[in-house]
Amino acid sequence: MLLPVIMAGGTGSRLWPMSRELYPKQFLRLYGQRSMLQETVVRLDGVNAREPVVICNEEHRFLVAEQLRQIDKLSHNIILEPVGRNTAPAIALAALSAIENGDDPILLVLAADHIINNKAAFHEAVQAAFEYAKKGSLVTFGIVPTGPETGYGYIHRGEQVNPESDSPFKVNRFVEKPNRETAEEYISSGEYYWNSGMFMFRAKKYLSELEKFRPDILDACKSAILNAKDGDDFINVDKELFVACPDESIDYAVMEKTSDAVVVSLDADWSDVGSWSALWEVSNKNECGNVLTGDTFTHNTNNCYINTDEKLVAAIGVDNLVIINTKDAVLVVNKDQVQDVKKVVEHLKAQN
Ligand code: GDD
Ligand code: MG
Repeated sequence: MLLPVIMAGGTGSRLWPMSRELYPKQFLRLYGQRSMLQETVVRLDGVNAREPVVICNEEHRFLVAEQLRQIDKLSHNIILEPVGRNTAPAIALAALSAIENGDDPILLVLAADHIINNKAAFHEAVQAAFEYAKKGSLVTFGIVPTGPETGYGYIHRGEQVNPESDSPFKVNRFVEKPNRETAEEYISSGEYYWNSGMFMFRAKKYLSELEKFRPDILDACKSAILNAKDGDDFINVDKELFVACPDESIDYAVMEKTSDAVVVSLDADWSDVGSWSALWEVSNKNECGNVLTGDTFTHNTNNCYINTDEKLVAAIGVDNLVIINTKDAVLVVNKDQVQDVKKVVEHLKAQN
């Protein structure tokens, strides 16, 4: 049976100032009735899977437990990282804890910051991936791209694994977050998918690939989990040992390097809520293309995303802007440059 692993330890810095260290985006209700984390868990209803493992920062343990309780989905399996070391170590910790009893479950690794409107199509893709993960492939879910986004990984598709059927494709090449020029080339070739950031593989397969390409990460994770303190529902990873782990995403550490990856296409009305423009894309807009939340006034204003906590925000004669007003910060950014919002967070970190 599948073991879902939900990665919920990111900082969501491109959604500053709403997404903060203390309350990052996966715990916010940015779209729909539930938080992004809750949506991720509920989306698994109907998939034949075990209770999910959630892996997040220890600061968020009660937030995660409470959000799961709110949707009647308990997890007795919350792995707590004392610091964020990105997704390659996070998945390694989950894989190591999953093989503890001699099992080798198939992990369905999910990000906690996606919108997937077509649940049935998502379930179908999961089903299709299962056969290949079982046989030892690292399966990624590929999205047909709609533009040269630079915030995604790109997958160059190779031959079909089994030419006689509608099987997945081998991955020729995986390139994490290329620059604009390269992304444009990829798009015009028509041979690339976006990486959805969800994966499926056997726990031991991932660990052996990690051992091949980044033994330093594997070693650090092994000792950190070995020295973890188990609580009732929480596994507290050892701080001192985990701090020493290199910071790297699964995309750079494993997916760019492995030769055993296959890609299952996912056509499920998927969206990554990675930036303000992504959120604008998926939200309901008024007749001027504006998405307005809170007390706002607009005139001759088009295609803007405006969200205000308390104060009135008035916008006149402006187009294509994101304006976010929270208690202690205001963000004004051109919708075409929202990837740079993380620079504010870097700046604030450098000041502290
Ligand atoms: N537990 C844990 N620890 N989770 C983490 C950590 C960490 O240190 N860092 C990130 N995450 C979680 C985030 O909360 C999110 O749910 C998921 O892992 C992916 O991290 P992001 O930081 O959102 O990655 P990204 O969006 O820049 O890139 C990834 O997703 C894209 C699609 O959304 C990559 O896989 C890209 O290739 C992909 O295109
Ligand atoms: Mg993301």
